[in-house]
Amino acid sequence: MSTNYKIIKAEFLNADTFKLTVQSEKISQKARPGQMVHIKCGDEGGVLLRRPISICSVDREKGTFDIVIQIRGKGTKILSKYRAGDMIDILGPLGQGFSIYPKHKKIIVIGGGIGIFPLLQLLKDHPAENKKAILGFRNKSCVILEEEFRKECNELLISTDDGSYGEKGFVTDILKKELDKEPADMLFFCGPLPMMKLGVGIANEYNIPCEVSMEQRMGCGIGACLTCVCKTKNGDDWEYTQVCKRGPVFSGDKVIFE
Ligand SMILES: Cc1cc2nc3c(=O)[nH]c(=O)nc-3n(C[C@H](O)[C@H](O)[C@H](O)COP(=O)(O)OP(=O)(O)OC[C@H]3O[C@@H](n4cnc5c(N)ncnc54)[C@H](O)[C@@H]3O)c2cc1C
Ligand code: FES
Repeated sequence: MSTNYKIIKAEFLNADTFKLTVQSEKISQKARPGQMVHIKCGDEGGVLLRRPISICSVDREKGTFDIVIQIRGKGTKILSKYRAGDMIDILGPLGQGFSIYPKHKKIIVIGGGIGIFPLLQLLKDHPAENKKAILGFRNKSCVILEEEFRKECNELLISTDDGSYGEKGFVTDILKKELDKEPADMLFFCGPLPMMKLGVGIANEYNIPCEVSMEQRMGCGIGACLTCVCKTKNGDDWEYTQVCKRGPVFSGDKVIFE
C-alpha cells in the first residue's frame, strides 16, 4: 500500500537533476541497496502511472531516505516542482536489491548516468575492505554526488564522454584497465543497457561474478501487469521475467541482453 510521506529537503544538484530527502521510518529501515520506490507524480498532467526511482541513500538514524531524479518527461518534471514540506505518495521499498556477501573483499561498482544512484547505498552498506567506484557521465556539468561517492569508497574514478572531466571514454574501458592491475571479487553494474552488456562480457572474461540493475518502463511495480519484463535464461531455454518483482537487480549471467 502506498503512503504519503513528507519531503524534508528538495534541492537541484545540476540543471536537470534534483534530490528529494523524504521522512520515512519504514523505508529508511527496510530498504536494501538496489531497491526502488514507485512514485505517484500528482493527479495533474495526465501522468497516471507511477514512476520507478532507485533509493539512493538512507539515513537509518534520522529515518530519512534520498532519491535523486533526472527530469526526462512529464512525470519527473512534476516531481521537480515538489518542495520541502510537501507530501509525496510513495510505494516501497520494492524489488530485489544487490547481494552483499562478506566474503567479497574487493568490489567494484560501475555506474553510468542515472544508474549511479543505487550504487551509493551499496557502497555504504557493503563490508568489503576495498571498494572502488567507476562512474560515467556525459560531460562535466552532469557530474554529481562526487564527494558523497568519494567518502564511501577507497577509490573513485570518473569518466566523461567528451573528456571534459576525469578520463575521456567509457566506464567499461576503465574497468578493464583496473582489472588488469588488480582482480576483484564482485562487480556491480547499473546504467544504460549497452554498458551493462559490455560489463557482463568483461566480468565473464575475467571470471568475476557480477550483478546488473535493469531499467525497464514499469506499470504497477508489484508484479501485476507484465509491463516490465526482460528476457532471462532458464536452463537451456529462456523466459520473460518481471523486473519490478524479481529484479531490478539480477545476476549478470541470468539476463539475456539483446
Ligand atoms: C528500477 C528503476 C530505477 C530507476 N531509478 C531512477 C533514479 O534513481 N533516478 C532517475 O532519475 N530515474 C530513474 N529511473 C528512470 C525513471 O523511472 C524514468 O526516467 C521516469 O519514469 C521517466 O518518467 P517521465 O514521466 O519523466 O518521462 P516519460 O515521459 O515517461 O519518458 C521520457 C523519456 O524517458 C524514457 N523512459 C521513461 N522511463 C524509462 C525507463 N524506465 N527506462 C528507460 N527509458 C525510460 C522514455 O522512453 C522517454 O524517451 C529508474 C527506472 C527504473 C526502472
Ligand atoms: S511493472 Fe507491473 S509487473 Fe512489473
